[in-house]
Amino acid sequence: LPKACIFDLDGVIVDTVPAHFVAWKAMADELNIPFTEVDNEQLKGVSRTESMKRILAMGGMTKSNIEIEEMTTKKNHIYVEIISKMTPDDILPGVVEFLDLLDDNNIAIALGSSSKNAPVILEAVGLAHRFPVSVDGNQIAHSKPHPEVFLLGADRLGLSPSECVVFEDAISGVQAAKRGNFKCVGVGDSTVLSEADVVIPDMKNIDLTIFDNL
Ligand code: BG6
Ligand code: MG
Repeated sequence: LPKACIFDLDGVIVDTVPAHFVAWKAMADELNIPFTEVDNEQLKGVSRTESMKRILAMGGMTKSNIEIEEMTTKKNHIYVEIISKMTPDDILPGVVEFLDLLDDNNIAIALGSSSKNAPVILEAVGLAHRFPVSVDGNQIAHSKPHPEVFLLGADRLGLSPSECVVFEDAISGVQAAKRGNFKCVGVGDSTVLSEADVVIPDMKNIDLTIFDNL
C-alpha cells in the first residue's frame, strides 16, 4: 500500500469542471473565439493565467499582461459566483467513502490543486479537515504539468514521491504526477488519460485493490 494519496481537487473531489467551463466559455464568447468542452479538456489542471493565454492562442490572439489579468479576474468572478452556492452535495460520489477507507488503513491524505480557490471550496463542501496537508495554486510558482504542486505535497508529508499515489482527472495533472515520479490513478476517460498508470471512470466503489496494479 502507498503511505499517502495526493488528490487533485477540481473534477476528482468536487464537481467544479462544468463551472470552470461555463466561466471560460463566457470569456471566449466575448472574444468571439470558438470554445468547446473538448477544448476545455486541455485547460484542466492549468492555472488561471495560463488557461486564458491558451484560449487566446486558440483564437490566434495575443493580449497584454494587464488585459490578461483583467480577463482572468472577470472569469474568476463568474466562477466564484457559481461555486459560492456549493454544499457537501457537490462532493463527487465515492469520495468520502474512499477517504474513510484511507483513514482506516493509516494512509495519509493530501491535496494537490492548481486552484487558488481550493481553500474556499474545501470549506464550502465541509472537507477542509480531511486534508491536513493541502497544497494549492496560492503556494506554487509553476502550474501542472510542472510537478511542483505534488512534490511540495510529498515534501510536507515527509514522504518521497514513490511512497505516494496521485489521483488526477486532467491530462496536465497526470503529466505532472509522472514527471514527479509519482504513481498516478487517472479519474475519467482512459483514452484521454492514457499516460496514467491505471484509469478509473469515477471515484465510486474504489477499494484497496486499486493499488495492486501500480
Ligand atoms: C484547476 C482546474 O484545478 O485549477 C483549472 O482544473 C483551473 O480548470 C485551475 O483553471 C486554476 O483554478 P482557479 O480556481 O485558481 O482559477
Ligand atoms: Mg482536476
